[in-house]
Parts: sequence; C-alpha cells; structure tokens
Amino acid sequence: MTPQALLAESIHPAAAKALEALGVTPVERLKVALPEDELIEKLKGVKLLGIRSRTKVTKATIEGAPGLYAIGSFGIGTNQIDLDAASAKGIPVFNAPFANSRSVAELTISAAVSLLRRMPEKNVEMRAGGWGKSAAGAYEARAKKLGIVGYGNIGSQVSVLASAMGMHVYYYDIEPKLAHGNARAVASLDELLELSDIVTLHTPSTPATRGMIDAGALAKMKKGANIINYARGDLIDIDALSEALGSGQVGGAAIDVFPVEPASKDEAFDSPLLAHKNVLFSPHIGGSTQEAQEAIGAEVADKLARFLTEGATAHSVNFPQILPSSRKLGVTRILHAHQNVTGVLRGINDAVSDAGLNTAAQSLATRDGIGYVIADVEGAATDSLRADLEKVDGTIWTRIIE
Ligand code: NAI
Repeated sequence: MTPQALLAESIHPAAAKALEALGVTPVERLKVALPEDELIEKLKGVKLLGIRSRTKVTKATIEGAPGLYAIGSFGIGTNQIDLDAASAKGIPVFNAPFANSRSVAELTISAAVSLLRRMPEKNVEMRAGGWGKSAAGAYEARAKKLGIVGYGNIGSQVSVLASAMGMHVYYYDIEPKLAHGNARAVASLDELLELSDIVTLHTPSTPATRGMIDAGALAKMKKGANIINYARGDLIDIDALSEALGSGQVGGAAIDVFPVEPASKDEAFDSPLLAHKNVLFSPHIGGSTQEAQEAIGAEVADKLARFLTEGATAHSVNFPQILPSSRKLGVTRILHAHQNVTGVLRGINDAVSDAGLNTAAQSLATRDGIGYVIADVEGAATDSLRADLEKVDGTIWTRIIE
C-alpha cells in the first residue's frame, strides 16, 4: 500500500504517532536521506514528505512528484528545500521554529558558567596531565552582566534562566521586545558590548548581522569579557576573534556554529580557534536534545496532518497562511491554490453557485504572488464542481475535503 506520508532521516517516532493520530496512514519511515532520483521514485503517490537537514528537495524533485501536497522540515532551517519551486507548485512547507529554543538556552547558560570558571582551559590542561587547582580568573555568574544580542525565542529564554541565577541581564534587539523579569533593553549593540561581562548572540544570519562581531566590535568589549555564539557561524569574524583571544582582549569563547562546518561526520573540523585553549567547542548541537527532537517531530507532523485533513496552512514558511475553524457536519470544504490574479475569487464563487451550493464560510490569504482560499459550502460536492474549480483561470490546484 502506498504510504500517505514518507518520513526520511530517522525522524523521531513522535512524528509518525502524531500523523497516525490524525488519520494519516500508512506512514513510511526511512533511516536515510535519499538522493534526488531515488526520492522522486519513492514519492510516487506520497502526499506528505518529512525530512531533516540532509535531504535536498530540489526543483526537479518537486516537479517530479505531482502528487505531493506538503513538505515538512523537521528542524528550524528550510535551506535544503527549493522554496520557490515549492511555492510555484502551491506546496506549503512547514518547520518547527521554537521546538528547540529551550535546549539552546540551557546550553548557553552552561557555557556562560563554564567560561566564567575557565573550564575550557582546565579541561585541556588536565588532559595533558596538569592539575591547575586555583581560583585565579574564576568567577560566579551571580551579579555578572550578561548581554544578549537578539531577544527572540532563544534570547528571551536565556534571559529567564540567567535572571534566575542572579545575573544582571541586558539585551539589544532591533525590534521592541517585552523584557522578562528585570532584564533591561539597551539602545545599541555598542552599549551592550561595552557593559557586558559575557556577550551571547541569538540573532538570525542577515545582511545586518553577518560579521556583526568584527575586530571593532571585539575591541569595544570589556577587556577579558567572554563571548558565546550558539546562533549562526557567520555572525563573528573568526580571524578577528582568534586574534582577540590571543591578545587577552576576549577572555574566552563558546562556539557551537562556524562559518565553515563539516558536511558530515567523515569530514574533519578545522578552525583558527583550535589554537586557543580558552575556547569551548561544540559541533552545532545547541538545539540537539531528545526533548527537542520529540517536540519537533510532533509539531511538524501536526502541521502536515492538519494541512492534509483541514487545509490549515498557519505557520507555513512559504505559503499564504489560513487557520480555518473546524469543519461542521454536512459541510464540504473547498481548498483552492492559485496565482494571485484578479477574478479567481469570482470564478470560485461562480463554480459554487452553479453547483447550487451555499457558501457558509470563506477565507482568502495571499503571499508572494500565490493566493489560497478555503471555502466551506453546505452540501456535497459534485464532479462538475470539481471540474469547474479546476478551470478557474490561475488555478494551481484544488482539493475537496468531505
Ligand atoms: P528568533 O527569530 O526568535 O529571534 C531572533 C531575534 O533577533 C529577533 O528578536 C530579531 O528581532 C533579532 N534581530 C534580528 N536582527 C537583529 C540585529 N541586527 N540586531 C539585534 N537583534 C536582531 O530566532 P531564535 O529562534 O531565537 O534563533 C536565534 C538564532 O539561533 C538563529 O540564528 C537560529 O538559527 C539559531 N539557532 C541555533 C541552533 C543551534 O543548534 N546552535 C538551534 C536553533 C536556533
């Protein structure tokens, strides 16, 4: 039996469970990421595709899978999916933007404490037989100033945890953000860099944030202050950081993300930062916990299943967003994705009234040239209604849920 949903790359079992709970069966689970040709073959008849970061969903894959309804990226990023090709075919893409925020926040706090206590250096020294038992350069986190750059999902969670440990929390964000507890917003990045004992980065990678922490920014930090980057590898100029660590301008760094990261376990990691023992390294695992994997599995599967069964597209990363109310008994739901051109709504309404049906509810959303309508009509759909909806100028696809 052809699966309704294909989940690749050992996605957490919570995903299959969530799909099945909403009536999406059978679900096929794969351990691996399939190459393009095998994926196209495997997608025949499959409505929902779930992947993690290693499967590349290319334009050819999307065009080669005409039966595919939606794609779920079981993680934060969606770079591995050709979003333009998906949008052109009216395929919504979903992800899980907050499911691992807490995991990153916890590790950030542990990094802050480790840096303040000089744990990276002590770890290196002991491995070489050293026993540097000393309080020199080691501090409590209590009453230290933590500067958070980017007060979004993760930054604000770091704020809550740091406040609970008695740290003084300051943050800088380009958007106005509600402060948690006693945290205080500052007006500029420079101000934050100048006052903080530890700076932690939690912004996305954008033209404004790329290289944001360069030699000039590092020079503005307090001498010997620490820096944490668990956000994106290109926020810091790594050569400048390497120099600042060497000169003592920066006391220590905890880095989880790098400008160039190995593509797999088989590739070796290299970085100018390896020369410094006051760096705490981790291989981009800030958000990688069992809890986060399970939460991601359930969240993305729920979004995929709700699209299949109700047409809901709330929180899609590329598609007009509609969160419909639940369908009432005796009501037929029409889903219609189209080019955002004039006359489509009229065409849909004409088709419905020609079928002798009354519209009970209708929602329209548009985004980047794509329009999406959910219409609940009283009564049953006929074959001629289906055919008329297909014929509306600009139609990408239409689907009826009964
Ligand atoms: P978010 O979108 O909730 O928050 C980002 C915040 O940064 C927003 O409040 C935004 O207004 C702010 N911001 C944007 N540009 C800014 C600028 N120029 N200056 C100051 N603030 C700016 O994102 P979230 O979920 O908190 O993620 C933060 C970062 O963590 C992202 O880069 C994400 O990719 C990364 N991340 C890393 C993981 C890891 O495994 N190490 C796991 C999960 C997320």
